[in-house]
Amino acid sequence: MRKLHDKFFRQAKREGKLARSVYKLEELDRREGLFRPGGKVLDLGASPGSWTEYILEAVGPGGVACAIDLKPIHRKFKGRAHFLLRDARELGDDDFARQAPDGFDALVSDMAPNTSGIRIVDQSRSLELCQCALTLARRRLRRGGNFVCKIFYGPETEAFRDSLPGFFQAVRLRKPLACRSASIEAYVVGVGFAGPEAG
Ligand SMILES: C[S@@+](CC[C@H](N)C(=O)[O-])C[C@H]1O[C@@H](n2cnc3c(N)ncnc32)[C@H](O)[C@@H]1O
Repeated sequence: MRKLHDKFFRQAKREGKLARSVYKLEELDRREGLFRPGGKVLDLGASPGSWTEYILEAVGPGGVACAIDLKPIHRKFKGRAHFLLRDARELGDDDFARQAPDGFDALVSDMAPNTSGIRIVDQSRSLELCQCALTLARRRLRRGGNFVCKIFYGPETEAFRDSLPGFFQAVRLRKPLACRSASIEAYVVGVGFAGPEAG
């Protein structure tokens, strides 16, 4: 039987974190240097808010986190967080005109589809969310910006990863320790964005 309350769950409880998934972002940030003080970050699939909370600490008082989710976030954050209760697939440039008119320094996506239990269906829905995140990154990331997106590992994962090197200086597929070992999730990371698309 799957062990639900693992060491990351207990650590999150002890440290008052909103979700154990914060330790995935913490590890990715430690290894890749995703955020900078004063940075603006777009956080897709943000509820219940553990990544948003981490990002606000990482970017400090001059930074901004724009958090998007289909579900609400109930935590009141200390830093500069803006939350939109929205489907990321329907976001337009106008949605960020006020908070980040010149684009974002990082875009992270922890979006996950509702799972059906049919692996190929779930992988394909996850891939659709990854493509949405990449499209937004290509439009809204600043030059040099960083990208992270959760993907359910499947037949298309490597093709998706291999579609990134034209846009980023370095691309990696990572599975942080806090991912459950039985889980098919992994994270595609792109660092050093080449620049937004013209037009
Ligand atoms: C694993 S949870 C995110 C956990 C969050 N990063 C945290 O640490 O608190 C995945 C989230 O993706 C959201 N999501 C899935 N599809 C989405 C979509 N199309 N637009 C926005 N959010 C979406 C879900 O509502 C869910 O809250």
